[in-house]
Amino acid sequence: MAPWWQNAVFYQVYPRSFHDANGDGVGDLPGLLARLNHFTMLGVDALWISPVFRSPMADFGYDVSDYTAIDPLFGTLADFDALLAAAHARGLRIVLDLVPNHTSDQHAWFVESRSSRDNPHRDWYIWRDPAPDGGPPNNWLSYFGGPAWTLDPASGQYYLHNFAPEQPELNYRNPAVKQAMFAQIRFWLDRGVDGFRIDVIDRMLKHPDLPDNPPDPNWREGDNPVWRLRRVHSENADGIHALIAEMGDVFRAYPDRVSIGEIAYSTDPAFIASFRGTPERPEIDMPFNFAPLMLPWSAEAVRAFVDAYDAAVPGPGANYVIGNHDQDRVATRRGPEQARVAAMLLLTLRGAAFIYQGEELGLTNGEVAREHFRDPQGINTGFSRDPCRTPFHWDDSHNAGFSECDTPWLPVAANYRTHNVLAELDDSRSFLQLYRQLIALRRAEPALAEGRYRSVDAPEGVFLYAREHDHQRLWMALNFTAQPQTVALPDADAQVVLSTLLDRAGETAGGLLTLRPGEGVIVRARPAGA
Ligand code: GLC
Repeated sequence: MAPWWQNAVFYQVYPRSFHDANGDGVGDLPGLLARLNHFTMLGVDALWISPVFRSPMADFGYDVSDYTAIDPLFGTLADFDALLAAAHARGLRIVLDLVPNHTSDQHAWFVESRSSRDNPHRDWYIWRDPAPDGGPPNNWLSYFGGPAWTLDPASGQYYLHNFAPEQPELNYRNPAVKQAMFAQIRFWLDRGVDGFRIDVIDRMLKHPDLPDNPPDPNWREGDNPVWRLRRVHSENADGIHALIAEMGDVFRAYPDRVSIGEIAYSTDPAFIASFRGTPERPEIDMPFNFAPLMLPWSAEAVRAFVDAYDAAVPGPGANYVIGNHDQDRVATRRGPEQARVAAMLLLTLRGAAFIYQGEELGLTNGEVAREHFRDPQGINTGFSRDPCRTPFHWDDSHNAGFSECDTPWLPVAANYRTHNVLAELDDSRSFLQLYRQLIALRRAEPALAEGRYRSVDAPEGVFLYAREHDHQRLWMALNFTAQPQTVALPDADAQVVLSTLLDRAGETAGGLLTLRPGEGVIVRARPAGA
């Protein structure tokens, strides 16, 4: 039988911004529990919840100081257990977010490690002597700006951090570190969670000699300074696949759990597929496929990628991601029409689909002035992730129904009066209705849930593909352009099932199908003689 996650729809909750039950301006677990109806209404299979572990919040939970405790800002372990039980009672799975590459600098392991050069935990992190001039040991840069090294004056050595200085990198060349992290995973799997999304899994090993990274000739003034260097030695180093395979084994020891890995954003199907490992040595179940975030938004580029990726990951593990808490929102990147096309693409390709909180409302980036940036990357580089993390829009009341406080941790976006759950439930052509119908269709149609994928030639700017199962065939025709297009459908007798504009279901569509600007349409082929 296919694993539950193979074709699942995952919904990423960014808990700080979902629903604040205690009125402190930050979302929490009781808030999430109170809103479980939202997921039933949408029809998703599983939640991935961004980190809720104890954290000083230098990177809003991606800096963990205790992997087996819930941060008081989010609630208690009892709150978590209640959430898990309530979700499971509804058939909704819960996937947590593991951050194994680095801890918080407040984690007991790092406090020990930093305390002296001969502390038994010293080697749990990556410490090096200064360069001869007293500067950092090599030229590596932090994703959040500046060097990837910080000097600890007391012990006279630098420690490595690819992200904020408050996020020291663990040393996975030390077997004790590996075992300690695996124990944290088991704690939650024993508690019944359905799996983990694993943060920056391909960065867990660096070149053992820590050589300088070479400059990237494509970098231009004005680009994020992080990309000045090609990160060839600071991540994805020799041995990484063996380490990931061992981590995958921890999950495989439990029935029905999923491991999902965040790897470098790539459009190379072979690179993405490589983190699934081989049948002899499996690694993780689902390496994230971020290609839809990176490809030029053209029918031709997307088709070429999907053809290659679908072939590269023929069985379980295929997945598509169109947004997350690190990226500009889809409607901001592609505009509102193409955001609908992106939703149709996401939910009609083979494999799992990942929806980031708020995408189902067609939200755009919120407005966050530079002086109000909270994201360390934004503060240091100007490239802020705050605008895609502003509070969720439940209704048109105070703070969009997110919190009763005066000032939430990030401002509520200005368009919340029109873009919110209540308003969109009332509007038969809203974004929310599109997501609901796409998900419902995926559940109802074996061709969409598990059928084969095949694309065919179409006019420039149109991506035309079929999903087929037994004698059922659905065609997806997506217009990536702002002009009308006419497509010759390979089936002479067909009927429109769903348009991204939600106004032409039932139309006869055999032969020539006309697409409006930026419209996507799903069409069902009628079997001959029916
Ligand atoms: C991942 C997370 C991001 C975080 C970083 C460091 O890329 O998605 O939000 O800042 O890792 O943990």
